[in-house]
Amino acid sequence: MDTNSGHRLFRLSLLNPKSFNTFTWIPDGALVTNAGGNIAYSGSWSDLPREYKILPVVSHENSVALPGFIDLHVHLPQFHARGKFGKDLLSWLHGVIFPVEAAFANPDVARRVAKSFFTSLAMHGTTTAMVLVSVHEEATDIAFEEARRSGLRVVMGKVNMDTDCPEDLRESTRESLAATERLIGKWHRATDKLWYAVTPRYALSCSEELLRGCAELAARSGTYIQTHINETIEEIEAVRERFRSSYTELYKRAGLLGMRSVLAHNVHPEEAELELLKRTDTAVAHCPDANLFLGSGKFDLEKHLQHGIRFGLGTDVGAGTSLSMLRTMRAMTYVQGRSLHPAGPLYAATLGGAVALGLEDNIGSLDAGKHADFVIMDFTTMDADIHDLSAADAAAAVVYRADPRAVRGVHIGGAHIYSRAEPVTGES
Ligand code: GUN
Ligand code: FE
Repeated sequence: MDTNSGHRLFRLSLLNPKSFNTFTWIPDGALVTNAGGNIAYSGSWSDLPREYKILPVVSHENSVALPGFIDLHVHLPQFHARGKFGKDLLSWLHGVIFPVEAAFANPDVARRVAKSFFTSLAMHGTTTAMVLVSVHEEATDIAFEEARRSGLRVVMGKVNMDTDCPEDLRESTRESLAATERLIGKWHRATDKLWYAVTPRYALSCSEELLRGCAELAARSGTYIQTHINETIEEIEAVRERFRSSYTELYKRAGLLGMRSVLAHNVHPEEAELELLKRTDTAVAHCPDANLFLGSGKFDLEKHLQHGIRFGLGTDVGAGTSLSMLRTMRAMTYVQGRSLHPAGPLYAATLGGAVALGLEDNIGSLDAGKHADFVIMDFTTMDADIHDLSAADAAAAVVYRADPRAVRGVHIGGAHIYSRAEPVTGES
């Protein structure tokens, strides 16, 4: 039938986040994607509209489709530097990470890491990522080329630093902004899957002039802004010493807060800072695996929820040890030190990230009309049988039992971008 040309029909279970507390679970579900790469139908198999019943069926036994993961904060140059010992944030950054990022002056290194980074993101079921590169303009250009090639949705920017970093990474304020402006011109909205994010690294590596310049550039060009905030006590004390204000106040007066800004960590905010984030509609990327790895502290989940601050989950590789959002969801619970219903981490890893990016009309859940960005996960790898599972147990299996082998296929905008070669059975 003509109207169905380019449609594809999948028969499998559907797990669809709705809010921090709710999701839907359809054990015998159908997902129809159209030629435009959007979801035409998502619901129960028995309610499948007549016009789709003639389509060939792709069945995935004992498998579930859920929205592709959204990694809201991840460092591309640190991909191969995960898990390196560094004592605490500032010693790790200066002793381990800055030398790793300096190697991105070499375009061959930048190319090699960028290729494996995006391939690996897809293998982990991540379909959208907010990415920091290094200070280098060429490395960032290469990263965008590889992002475009990968088919992922990518919000990305070169890091800006003019203060308190090694000579070989330090930029002049003017050149830092000029290079950023060139990259924005080349890459922001270059395709419907690419966005630029102006990326002042964090307060300690930026002059106030650079922070302001970044904010102005983002406002003028309509890009995102990404940076770090309130990650460790030592860092916060250094910020107060240098800038004579709270971290959030500093970003406010520089013009960095707003509905297109995503701030990573926010582990140690004061009450007034949470209010300011809410008032400016600024979003937060919670990075639990990184916070556990560096011993940065416990993210106050309740307070972020109470204040209604938009937040999602980030792996924060390389302080985070893995690109797996499955592991990151689990870490979110471990940080809290209590049992969390799986609906929360599931939301944070998908729809929460979409809301943080202001893209919830297009991604983050399996609702009809959105882009067909979904990951297919295999319950057999979790030693689970779909027919035995309640809705809560199905979500719990995905959040707490799945390991990276559970990712069986990944689709973005209807394109099949990853498929696991062999079915795998049993415990890892
Ligand atoms: N703060 C400034 N830069 C970084 C970084 O690369 N990783 C983390 N976790 N925190 C930062
Ligand atoms: Fe980070």
